[in-house]
Amino acid sequence: MAKSTFPSLISVFLTLLFFTTVAVAKNHHSFSRTLSPQKLGLKKEKLSHLHFYFHDIVSGRNPTAIRVAEANTTNTSRSLFGSVFMMDDPLTTGPEQISKLVGRAQGIYASASQSELGFLMVLNYVFLEGKYNGSTLSILGHNAVFSGMREMPIVGGSGLFRFARGYAQARTHEVDLKSGDAVVEYNVYVLHY
Ligand SMILES: *[C@@H]1O[C@H](CO)[C@@H](O)[C@H](O)[C@H]1NC(C)=O
Ligand SMILES: *[C@@H]1O[C@H](CO)[C@@H](O)[C@H](O)[C@H]1NC(C)=O
Ligand SMILES: *[C@@H]1O[C@H](CO)[C@@H](O)[C@H](O)[C@H]1NC(C)=O
Repeated sequence: MAKSTFPSLISVFLTLLFFTTVAVAKNHHSFSRTLSPQKLGLKKEKLSHLHFYFHDIVSGRNPTAIRVAEANTTNTSRSLFGSVFMMDDPLTTGPEQISKLVGRAQGIYASASQSELGFLMVLNYVFLEGKYNGSTLSILGHNAVFSGMREMPIVGGSGLFRFARGYAQARTHEVDLKSGDAVVEYNVYVLHY
């Protein structure tokens, strides 16, 4: 009796050891787990409305948007197809350039339409004011600049805007057709925690 239980105890031990090893190995290799939103301090999702003016200055000594690339056919295209601009445009509370700065729109707009002036917008609103200072919202959208109202998706955010989603509505407030400088009014609706 004792003779036969001994090997079986060993096999139980080895089996246990095997499964423990497998479990440890599995733990070691796992890179994801489920987490409750409370653990990240997430409480209730809220909706915020932001309102500001965007200043796109392409002329003069201190442009805030510059053309960084183009195709060899861009200049003969009615829609400037293929041109790529890098912007660092001020965002202010009022339409005047000297009104209070709340952030900057940093990123790229590029002419992506051959039939109309339609930009691919890839940018971050980098906020600099109040509780939003240091937080960002990311926009990825289509901007047909000669349309009355344009809508662009908010695809994410950081800081106070973690888990953000929503949309930005743009309406041209003022445009100087000679210089190309423009002031655009933005209403942004964003869900975040
Ligand atoms: C533009 O570049 C392409 C490729 O290098 C060339 O085939 C074409 O002829 C150029 N077009 C013009 C208008 O210069
Ligand atoms: C297109 O026009 C811009 C602005 O006038 C000029 O800087 C650029 O050199 C031109 N590019 C080509 C490929 O002709
Ligand atoms: C925003 O944050 C930066 C970095 O923390 C700080 O230097 C700056 O003074 C802040 N701006 C405002 C308006 O609070």
